[in-house]
Amino acid sequence: MSKKSILLFVYNLFILSVFSQAKLLVDFQQKGASISPSMYGIFFEEINHSGDGALYAELIQNRGFEEHVLISGCEYRDGFAYAPQSPNYISGNISNWKHPWDIEKLKYTAWKLDDLLGDASCDIVSDAPLHAATPHSMKISINNVYTDGFIKLINEGYWGVPVRKNEKYNLRFFLRASQDYKGGVVARIVSSDNKVLAEKRFNVECKEGWNEYVGVLRAKDTDFKGSFELCFDAPGTVWVDYVSLFPEKTFNCRENGLRADVAQKLADLKPAFIRWPGGCIVEGATIENRVKWKETLGDPMTRKGEWDLWNYRTTMGFGYHEFLQYCEDIGADAMFVANVGLSCRFRNGDYVDESQLTVYIQDICDAIDYAVGDASTEWGLKRIQAGHKKTFPLKYVELGNENWGVHYATIYNRFYKELKSRYPQIIFISTIGFGDDEDRIDKTDMIDPHWYVNADFFYKNTRLFDTKKRGKYKVYVGEYACNQGVGSGTLEAALSEAAFMMGMERNSDLVTMTSYAPLIENSNRRDWSTNMIWVNNEKVVGRSSYYVQQMFSLNRPDVNLKTELISFADTLSERVQAIGGYDYRSKEIVIKVLNGTGQELSLNIELNACKVSGKGRVITLSAASDKLENSFDYPELIVPIQTISKSFSNNFLQIFKPYSFTILRVKAKNIDV
Ligand code: AHR
Repeated sequence: MSKKSILLFVYNLFILSVFSQAKLLVDFQQKGASISPSMYGIFFEEINHSGDGALYAELIQNRGFEEHVLISGCEYRDGFAYAPQSPNYISGNISNWKHPWDIEKLKYTAWKLDDLLGDASCDIVSDAPLHAATPHSMKISINNVYTDGFIKLINEGYWGVPVRKNEKYNLRFFLRASQDYKGGVVARIVSSDNKVLAEKRFNVECKEGWNEYVGVLRAKDTDFKGSFELCFDAPGTVWVDYVSLFPEKTFNCRENGLRADVAQKLADLKPAFIRWPGGCIVEGATIENRVKWKETLGDPMTRKGEWDLWNYRTTMGFGYHEFLQYCEDIGADAMFVANVGLSCRFRNGDYVDESQLTVYIQDICDAIDYAVGDASTEWGLKRIQAGHKKTFPLKYVELGNENWGVHYATIYNRFYKELKSRYPQIIFISTIGFGDDEDRIDKTDMIDPHWYVNADFFYKNTRLFDTKKRGKYKVYVGEYACNQGVGSGTLEAALSEAAFMMGMERNSDLVTMTSYAPLIENSNRRDWSTNMIWVNNEKVVGRSSYYVQQMFSLNRPDVNLKTELISFADTLSERVQAIGGYDYRSKEIVIKVLNGTGQELSLNIELNACKVSGKGRVITLSAASDKLENSFDYPELIVPIQTISKSFSNNFLQIFKPYSFTILRVKAKNIDV
């Protein structure tokens, strides 16, 4: 040893002993559980207008004039949609579930008629269905139009029709006109201050029946709160249906595609898998209201959509095929969630008779075949006919959603046996959590407990998985978030989630998959208190929870290393947590340190039994207060900041900011290499 290195060693010892509050021991030789590549995924559900009005790029709301169509399985009486009065599958009690239903208001959702320059009236009718599944259309009876005037049918979009200067927008709509209609139709995008940003005139065909019109509109300027108009310039009767406007630039330029910025934000999480379509919507408020994946295929004009139990109608434009396509596009595995004959227990909770369950099992087989079957299967052939010869990356099927209890367990046991024998390659997930249901399930590949809790719960339960029994199945934590208590929706929540995630990562012999929930909120529509990504017509904002998820996903080591946090003084706060792992590919020890307290934390980090390179990366997420959060005005207030450290060694001092989550990536290898 040179004199200089001895001095440096003594100096380091001095600094460590004077300043550090605790020691973090990471033992390179003591490997723990492997961390599954499937660990960090995402969960999509149509809630908070996360699909229609956010991820799905359609700009016209209520494009098919079907918004008022009653909740499937319900009856209309006196301003309410009533569910069938049948027993709830958990309580056994007759459910009296009903939902207010204002047909007249719903009919005109997002549409209005402007007849200031003439005289006209409109009505939603079903006298000449464009398609059997989507029978309603807008009938406009025009008595008079002033010279150079228009009768305008206006759509407000999803809180505005957003367009960007010089971008192109693909328009498609259907019209039927009476023989006496001698005018044309002008399609326009209009700014919030009433300037025409794009327009295109079409001649109207007066031949019998529906005619399809397509065109491209190029926006002259940017406006995020514009509107769309169809303008008519002559007396007569016209029927309008399926009015659709898409940005030309969707994610990966897919037709019927996804909003590029939102889809990219999800892709930036590098999710190992995507779960679709939910959530409670899989179950439905009534059994008939469940998601029927077959109705989400094909020409979007033919998709009937369904009232979504988060209280708006979904177009199902981001359907089963689009979901599988998106998984393929971003290299994620697909998880399909299937209804098993039970509706949501918190709503009506009705269920089908045992004799009908075969239909539900077959429906799941068809879904699997659609994704991975070959041309010899009916539904594999349909995928090929839809233009996708290759199979899709469907790897998981979850049977039900948040279904629990004896009745569910009986169903699950039957479904699992039949489905697993037909599709041994698919990983089947039961929706049960820990507890009594565990003994009711004969066999399952995975279970799916959920946690929506406060920050303290997460901090107190970082060891929750340490004592859970191993062997019967793996665990997929399919929904979790700190959405309760004072810190909910802030950095404090995100830090507590990081603590819980450390517990999951350390127990990755048991927990092999996780997904935060819910994923996206359109900022104009909050159905659920706390959501990971906020979207408006202009921007996409990741909350600090988003960045915690991303940090875990991008810094997933292959294997855990034995890690001990030893306090030098009083016991450390439970808001201080650490784990270490090793990434074989990059040859780095990955250390995650959470300091959820308001004080700086100094740690003496000791890396045993390895050769360490002095230079490495430090990635930190923090803010001056844990009550802060990102916003549309300050979308990057709390984002991970990467710096280079040159002072890593086998024994070094590292300071961690108050309210921070930090990842150290330290190059290290075996001593004898
Ligand atoms: O994520 C929101 C809802 O929470 C999901 O639909 C449901 O599974 C859970 O209750």
